This record gives sequence, C-alpha cells and structure tokens, in this order.
Amino acid sequence: MPEGLLASAAARRRGRALFLERCAICHGTRADGHGMRSEGIEPAPRDFTNPDWRAATSPRRVFFAIRQGVAGTAMPAWTTLTEEQTWDLAAYVLSVGRK
Ligand code: HEC
Repeated sequence: MPEGLLASAAARRRGRALFLERCAICHGTRADGHGMRSEGIEPAPRDFTNPDWRAATSPRRVFFAIRQGVAGTAMPAWTTLTEEQTWDLAAYVLSVGRK
C-alpha cells in the first residue's frame, strides 16, 4: 500500500469522486450498500459504513476485491482502473466507517 494513503484526505477525496461515478449505483451514494441497483442482488452489495466490516478487513483485501471482483457475487473486477485509482477507492471505502 502506498505510504500514508489511508491518512490522506486527498486520496479519500479522489476515491469518493470515483466511487460516486462507478460504485454508488450498487453500494449507494452514502456507501451504505443501498444503491439504486442493489435491490435483488444476493449477496447484497457491501455496506462500508459498518465498523465491523472495517475492523475485519485490510487495505490489501479491499484493493484486490476491487481489482479482481468477488467471485460468486455481482461485484465485478475493475480492471480498467489504474492501481492508483484502486488505492484511492480503498482509502475512501475504508474511511466511511470511521467517525
Ligand atoms: C453491480 C453492483 C456493484 C458495483 C457496480 C460495485 N460493487 Fe462492490 N460489491 C458488490 C457486491 C454484490 C459485493 C459482494 C458483497 C460481499 O462481499 O458479500 C461487493 C463487494 C465489494 C467489496 C468487498 C467487500 C468485502 O466483502 O470485503 C469491495 C471492496 C467493493 N465491493 C468495492 C467496490 C468499488 C470500489 C466499486 C466501484 C469501483 C464497486 N464495489 C462496484 C456489488 C457491486
């Protein structure tokens, strides 16, 4: 993981902008899993505001979930995003559960 990434407000801002463009349709504009297209998806898109999820995962796992998708779910592999964009997204989704 790029050093200082999780603490970087700029990375989170870039990640949030990308998230609203590409991810919010499923994960919701508030990253709570309630996107417009989330209904009927099983398992449901992850709710990133849940602190238990935040505590149970790691930046590396989030990075690879975005890159490679999650097998057996509707989560696609985002192979067109650059590594930097993928890390920015990871920084954002890992920040939403924190107060
Ligand atoms: C078509 C709907 C859809 C879109 C679009 C989508 N996701 Fe997902 N996402 C899912 C589903 C469904 C899961 C699986 C939930 C689970 O892990 O049980 C998931 C899981 C994840 C996970 C893994 C969570 C975990 O379990 O650790 C991450 C991280 C993630 N998504 C990030 C993103 C990001 C970032 C984007 C945008 C680039 C995105 N998703 C776009 C539906 C979507």
